[in-house]
Amino acid sequence: MAQQRIIIGISGATGFAYGIKALELLQPLDIETHLVISKAAQLTGSYEVPNLNLAQIEALADKVYSVNNIGAAIASGSFKTMGMLIAPCSMRSLAAIANGLADNLLTRAADVVLKERRRLVLMVREAPLNLVHIKNMQTVTLMGGIVFPPVPALYQHIETIDDMITHSVARALDLFDIDIPSLPRWGEDLHLHRKPV
Ligand SMILES: Cc1cc2nc3c(=O)[nH]c(=O)nc-3n(C[C@H](O)[C@H](O)[C@H](O)COP(=O)(O)O)c2cc1C
Repeated sequence: MAQQRIIIGISGATGFAYGIKALELLQPLDIETHLVISKAAQLTGSYEVPNLNLAQIEALADKVYSVNNIGAAIASGSFKTMGMLIAPCSMRSLAAIANGLADNLLTRAADVVLKERRRLVLMVREAPLNLVHIKNMQTVTLMGGIVFPPVPALYQHIETIDDMITHSVARALDLFDIDIPSLPRWGEDLHLHRKPV
């Protein structure tokens, strides 16, 4: 069977750590990761990650592409992938995807995933939302994409920010049928401390 591949996009919404976590969770698995980071994400990353070392983060991926490299493998539908996770997904990238702009490699790769009817999961991050944001989410959903805002589930007994990020990203990867062994599941590993009233 051909090697399985997933595209990870990191765009310039706050939450660069979600993208890093996706790469970390995928690294031990037998899935090739193809990474593209937008220009704005490089900026948000530099604000959010202390002493950001982009080369170290890129080293977590199997293949790394410049966002300007519109001729990269992931820009073509003939390059088979399981699909693409954008973590986090900015409202700008969401808008470009919803309107088929394909104006850089990240949005082109997402466009290709949609046209090939592969899995697209967008960890959209903005608050509050205006009508255009909501309409773009509707459009992407109608095209078969999955809008997955990284909203924490508080019943998970989250103790650290890292727990919260890990849980959201693991649930997003679940949508590709990728099993993250450490993901606690309701009814299996997770139980209520108290009886419901
Ligand atoms: C510190 C910082 C935080 C930002 N957070 C968000 C955000 O949460 N959501 C969002 O849609 N845009 C956010 N932006 C704005 C985007 O970075 C901006 O719209 C950019 O053009 C997105 O480009 P991209 O989609 O190519 O990454 C933020 C920008 C900065 C500098």
